[in-house]
Amino acid sequence: MTDRPVLFVTRKLPADVEARAAQDYTARLNDDDRQYDADALIASSAGANALLVCSTERFSPEVIQRLPDSVKAIATFSVGYEHIDVDAATARGITVTNTPDVLTDATADIALLCLLGAARRQNEASAMLREGKWGRWDAIGMLGVHMSGKRLGILGMGRIGRAVAQRARGFGMKIHYSNRSRLSPDLEQGAIFHANPEEMLAQAELLSINCPSSPETVNFLNAERIALLPDGAVVVNTARGNIVDDPALIAAVKSGKVSGVGLDVFNREPHFDKGYLELPNAFLLPHIGSATTDTRSAMGFRALDNLDAVFGGKPAPDALN
Ligand code: DGY
Repeated sequence: MTDRPVLFVTRKLPADVEARAAQDYTARLNDDDRQYDADALIASSAGANALLVCSTERFSPEVIQRLPDSVKAIATFSVGYEHIDVDAATARGITVTNTPDVLTDATADIALLCLLGAARRQNEASAMLREGKWGRWDAIGMLGVHMSGKRLGILGMGRIGRAVAQRARGFGMKIHYSNRSRLSPDLEQGAIFHANPEEMLAQAELLSINCPSSPETVNFLNAERIALLPDGAVVVNTARGNIVDDPALIAAVKSGKVSGVGLDVFNREPHFDKGYLELPNAFLLPHIGSATTDTRSAMGFRALDNLDAVFGGKPAPDALN
């Protein structure tokens, strides 16, 4: 069939997602998962009606300006969309969509893993065992932070933040949160709202960052705000690396102000600040928040649902513009 929309898929995606893309579109797949730079992205978009992209490709205003006129939609295989300049796309009449909801549980699970990993000193404990340094059982060694009864501060109480809160309640934690607006009581479920994020930080014995990256949140957790945390706080980031000032956080761990960090996201991924590797109590993951088989397929299907709507003349369920 020649009238199927041409879809350029910029990364290798799960087999079931690629199979559906190939069935419903004239799909240009990336079989060897090559990395496209801006020029290659633009060249490979020639004649494409839609792009299915990942957060590893940056669609700056300049890139969007240079896309061919044939491109009508960009569907990102991610909930975060800070890598796409939505205003520039709107100006060119290009619909942009993301994949909310389907990765909420997987990402919240990773936040809890990071909280536990940092609070209970997983990195140090595993190293002790793997490096043959495990001596006798020790009543006063490897003491971590107990989660039950502690105050968990959540920055960003959207879907993922609320899923983190739900899980943390199961650990007996008290939830404090800061968000652009206060949630309704049914969503809040007893969590304590702080209109001022600095007030929330002062309560956060453990902190989970779950807000999107935006001009308001970039570099949010800087030295001044880290100073507001209770001494010995645990800091977890599963949102975007650029919300944290790395040198400030590393210095806070070294000084003991922060007792542990759990990070799944970093500035300039994959070229993260190697200072984290010097911290025994840094629980570090390579951005695997949504990395379950079910979730990655669901993300791809959600992106294709959005494109199907665009080319079926219907509103895309997750349109960002
Ligand atoms: C997302 O969906 O935003 C994940 O972080 C992957 O980029």
